[in-house]
Amino acid sequence: MEAYFDNSATTKPKGEVVDIMLKSLTDYYGNPSSLHKKGVEVEKLVKEARKQLAKSLYAKPEEIIFTSGGTEANNLAILGTIKSKKREGRKIITTKIEHPSVLNVYKTLENEGYEVVYLRIDEYGMISIDELKENLTDDTILVSIMHVNNEVGTIQPIEEIGKILKKLKKRPTFHVDAIQSFGKIKISPQKIGIDLLSVSAHKVHGPKGVGVLYIKKGTKIQPIVFGGSQETGIRSGTENVPGILGFGAAVSDFNNKIEEHIEYIKNFREKFKEKILAQVKDIKVNGHETCHAPHILNISFSGIRGEVLLHYLEQYNIYVSTGSACSSNKKSSQSHVLKSMKLTNEQIEGAIRFSFSYTNKMEEMDYAIEKIKNSVEELRMIIKR
Ligand SMILES: Cc1ncc(COP(=O)(O)O)c(C=O)c1O
Repeated sequence: MEAYFDNSATTKPKGEVVDIMLKSLTDYYGNPSSLHKKGVEVEKLVKEARKQLAKSLYAKPEEIIFTSGGTEANNLAILGTIKSKKREGRKIITTKIEHPSVLNVYKTLENEGYEVVYLRIDEYGMISIDELKENLTDDTILVSIMHVNNEVGTIQPIEEIGKILKKLKKRPTFHVDAIQSFGKIKISPQKIGIDLLSVSAHKVHGPKGVGVLYIKKGTKIQPIVFGGSQETGIRSGTENVPGILGFGAAVSDFNNKIEEHIEYIKNFREKFKEKILAQVKDIKVNGHETCHAPHILNISFSGIRGEVLLHYLEQYNIYVSTGSACSSNKKSSQSHVLKSMKLTNEQIEGAIRFSFSYTNKMEEMDYAIEKIKNSVEELRMIIKR
């Protein structure tokens, strides 16, 4: 038996995704910019994938810009905005718990003289709307807030933020990193008043290395990559056709079944939480009790290092994470998210993130919980000796 509970790090590509990607390497290998029919047939397929992405975000196809992943989408959103608003101000508002593909951009901007306000979060991983309001001034050019936190799953109040920003006379650009919420929470950027929104294919059973930046029509943004003017000049470079078609296939599947998938993972997480709390002693669930994503469950195991438990579980083909795989770079450093939530050192060190998908089976849950229970008991015994 295998229990892959690291779906926030990445997901297994679906069969349809692999099929179309393979076909794009063997048959549809033309360049979508070529004028002959080999190019035109690929251009049509890319157009269809774009349509599927647009549908998933209740957007227009021309608002969908393909990138090399979530990281580039976030970089483009931030750097592209500040480039286009050079004369309007130098203040940016974000949170302390963003992904490194956002936080590390701000580090470089701070060195260039930009003022970056990092909103604090409470013990549940939630920002304060009052703190946001206090910081909104006329020279704020960008507000960039993640939708779902990748480590603890807390959902930020982006609808409320959208409403607040809409009322401002000088409205900053609103960017949302929706990489962890896409496919797990229905989201319409246009309705909320989001100008820029990042998503990534490999979190939704698509391939790695392809993402999208949704850019609301009329939003001021400049490119950060220059070349042959693909993607309406916002993101030059010959398109990653296998990736884009794979992304399209992943999304067209969930466009039809999203409600079903959400219901399934919600129920899966609740059952998992109930069972693990009942069977494993001295554990604490981290994150928000109600405002949490349906697929992420972060738990601190007292007296055990999360990393040790992670490797212990590997022998049973149970795969989990200590934090964010994309941010940790396999080095063990303390989570900036759990630190910001003011967890104790023991709770931070003992944290494990379980992240589920609708592809996980109930028997995997039962298998994993039994092994986790035994492993935790064994490890605690070893430590006691
Ligand atoms: C919240 C969040 N933002 C950005 C990224 C980066 O996306 P990608 O791996 O597609 O570059 C991740 C990946 O884990 C993420 O969880």
